[in-house]
Amino acid sequence: MTTATELLSFPFSWDGTRVPDEVGELRATSPVRRVRTIAGDEAWLVSSYRLCHQVLRDDRFSLKDTSAPGVPRQYTLTIPPEVVNNMGNITGAGLRRAVLKALNPKAPGLMEWLRAEAHRLVDLLVEDGPTADLRGAFCEPYSAGMHCHILGIPQTEAPAFLRSLDIAFMNSACPITGARINWDRDIARMTALLDDPATHGLMGELAALRDGPEHDRPNDEMLATVGVTMFGAGTISTSGFLTMALVYLLTHPTARDLLRDRPDLIGPGVEELLRVNLSIADALPRLALEDIRLGDTDIREGDLVLVLVEGANLDPEKFPDPHRFDVHRDNTAEHLSFGGGAHYCPATALGRAHARIALEVLLDRLPDLALAVPAAQLVWRTGFMKRIPERLPVSW
Ligand code: HEM
Repeated sequence: MTTATELLSFPFSWDGTRVPDEVGELRATSPVRRVRTIAGDEAWLVSSYRLCHQVLRDDRFSLKDTSAPGVPRQYTLTIPPEVVNNMGNITGAGLRRAVLKALNPKAPGLMEWLRAEAHRLVDLLVEDGPTADLRGAFCEPYSAGMHCHILGIPQTEAPAFLRSLDIAFMNSACPITGARINWDRDIARMTALLDDPATHGLMGELAALRDGPEHDRPNDEMLATVGVTMFGAGTISTSGFLTMALVYLLTHPTARDLLRDRPDLIGPGVEELLRVNLSIADALPRLALEDIRLGDTDIREGDLVLVLVEGANLDPEKFPDPHRFDVHRDNTAEHLSFGGGAHYCPATALGRAHARIALEVLLDRLPDLALAVPAAQLVWRTGFMKRIPERLPVSW
């Protein structure tokens, strides 16, 4: 039991197979609760659906300002502070349309590419024989490959950009030397790709803008930043969600059997997996720009507010019997796994299609897919923005 005066440390647990005990207890007793962050600062942790939704919809809770000097932090930044406002910068530079177009799953050939790639990776798994690490041998290459495809850069670039993510998405109390080294290397690499005549896709389109009128010509660093951040945010989110959706299915065989036997339910199944999955390991941070009343709590200007997505997604007031996997809920899509309000994920349709196709292919080709080790043996990454098992050993 916790008491209302004790300062809890957040995050609670990196284990992605069970919701931390603190979540339900806090939601029921103090849905806006003072906590100690990884950085050692104090923040308000918000754990009910209604209040999480309210924070995300209210622009007085700012994402951009969480990177301001001297403000309380959830963790030390691993990217240049101005990049926290990535989508705002993209919009300001006139690149929003090009980026949204690239993230549209209806782009010609993208669905076919994803399906063919999923089959290619399953062929390799089958050729090698069980067991396999499904995260390293499927989720990561499938996700990184999709991003190379969208960016229009060679697939051979995927491993190097992918490697950086292990550090870029760390939650740390102190600065990480490797983050800056990787960032500079990746920006240089992406800048070189802008000049490569073989580059097409989003990066090709961005490179072509450099031929436009001088006054609105974006600079190379801005364009390379778009490429590096889209690869990073997109790959970690899609690969992380797919891995955790698979962890859920493999630890809930009734749900796995349902989606395997009824592939027509994989679409709504992905939505319900988005709701119940625990892939976000920390919380969505916002800085209060003025004094604001949130539920029964007075938030002060300059306070850090943390939106606990799993708190909202498993709130029984919003989703009755929240731990039941139910593909027929009429409000599943109202989960907050893509955020909400001004910073709502711009790639929701792509994220859903990416997971749907992967599950269709995996459950069809490997119908007996199962964990090859007891779930308790999974090793959970610590100090990371996503909950992921270091390896996901499976048999089939
Ligand atoms: C299943 C896959 C995905 C999930 C679960 C996911 C989740 C999220 C969440 C929770 C946010 C809100 C962050 C906040 O409010 O602080 C967000 C924003 C964002 N996501 Fe995604 N995402 C996914 C796929 C992608 C992909 C594929 C891309 C790009 C290639 C992407 C790019 C972004 C960007 C740029 C933002 C920031 C938007 C803004 O600040 O306006 N995401 N995503």
